[in-house]
Amino acid sequence: MAYDTIITGGEVITADGRKKADVAIKGEKIAAVKKGLASAEKNGATIVDAKGKYVIPGGLDVHVHLELPFCGTVSSDDFNTGTRAAARGGVTTVIDFAIPYGEDSLEDAYRKWREKADPKTCVDYCFHMAITKWDKHGPEMAKLVEMGCPTFKEFMIYESEGWQSDDRAIFSALEKCKELGAMLLMHAESSRVLDELIARHHTPELMKKHGAVLHGITRPNYIEAEAIQRAVKWAEVTGGRLYIVHMSTADGADIIRDAQSRGVDVYAETCAQYLVLDDSLFAGPDGHLFACCPQIKKKSDQQRLWKGLKRGEVCVVSTDTCSFTREQKAMWNGDWTKIPMGMPGLETLLPIVYTHGVLKEKITLRQFVEKCCTNPAKLMGLYPQKGTIEKGSDADIVIIDPKKKLKVDHETMETNTDWSPYQDWKLAGFAEKTFSRGRMIVDDYKFCGENGWGKWLPRKKAGKL
Ligand code: URP
Ligand code: ZN
Ligand code: ZN
Repeated sequence: MAYDTIITGGEVITADGRKKADVAIKGEKIAAVKKGLASAEKNGATIVDAKGKYVIPGGLDVHVHLELPFCGTVSSDDFNTGTRAAARGGVTTVIDFAIPYGEDSLEDAYRKWREKADPKTCVDYCFHMAITKWDKHGPEMAKLVEMGCPTFKEFMIYESEGWQSDDRAIFSALEKCKELGAMLLMHAESSRVLDELIARHHTPELMKKHGAVLHGITRPNYIEAEAIQRAVKWAEVTGGRLYIVHMSTADGADIIRDAQSRGVDVYAETCAQYLVLDDSLFAGPDGHLFACCPQIKKKSDQQRLWKGLKRGEVCVVSTDTCSFTREQKAMWNGDWTKIPMGMPGLETLLPIVYTHGVLKEKITLRQFVEKCCTNPAKLMGLYPQKGTIEKGSDADIVIIDPKKKLKVDHETMETNTDWSPYQDWKLAGFAEKTFSRGRMIVDDYKFCGENGWGKWLPRKKAGKL
């Protein structure tokens, strides 16, 4: 067979293991993975030399918010800059959250999000559908599954955004997910107690004294733990599949492990920031920049989350990318409740997990691929089209030089922010080359793709591990 491209001499890393092999691409697909392809079957194919490099599946960031109206502004990375950043970081699939506003139906939200994404997106993409009004959106779920969206999201907080779901909505959505082969993603934080803690601290004296540190003070671990515990109970009694998003606490990881051992159909992701940042940052001069939701926690939480990744109760690393510029973050003006919550992350997801996980021996190389590529593809119903390097899979492939470190600098990044949570950090694991469906979109660490190249990915069902 005449191939278009052969990646030769690298070490292919998948969730199943590592092997020396060449990878041949024909059109948009992987056509062969075996030794000696480049010498036996060159036939005019472009040869890409990956000697001494890792060849991994393109990453999936299944938790991003691009161009999101939120906290009185709009997140600064849109579907263009956000997915250029994704490509440069080795992420070839993103899943955003389509959120209905006002009286929007789920279908309205879906169409509005497609209008934002379709012309601009540089890597493949799809959406989770946010349920914000159970009585209106619940009856639409079957239709959205038919339209290719079998993953739904509910938020336990954000009453003022109009996004909040109560226990009735959570219980009922889990029942519906079971019926439809869908999965419910949950932002788990205990709303009423959180509101109470915020109200108690929302005084001029305490704000002057503590500034952005109030984020940590008003979000103790039990705010997340109680909410996860409750959601897990509703999953247990309904049999609906549950996925806890952006889990930030050790307590959460303990609850998930316990539930999984009882056979509850529950999964948990954490985000790169919860693995490497801690709440001492809030006390710094730029502390407010690090406000996200849930807030970053303690070093002991980081350690427990890494352990959960190693053992398996934490099965995905994503970013919850929701970027804001310094000017947007300055809206806080000393009041921590007014900081637009979120951080950039897409461009640094794989480098953070590789550098701080694999190189520091917290997880193996195989687990790195499992958590950033294969598990998210499986759970979100995209496997084996995405998340692996196999004959027949999409040719979404990333070449990483295991030793090459780059210094993070927001000035030279694709991400549309004028700061980075990881400014000046030296990270390995950036994509030297990224292929999206066979096309090279990053070469020599620079984006060389095209707006609108990304394809919408319809999905049939949510998956399991
Ligand atoms: O701070 C964050 N994560 N902003 C986005 C909204 C959310 O809760 O995921
Ligand atoms: Zn959330
Ligand atoms: Zn989020």
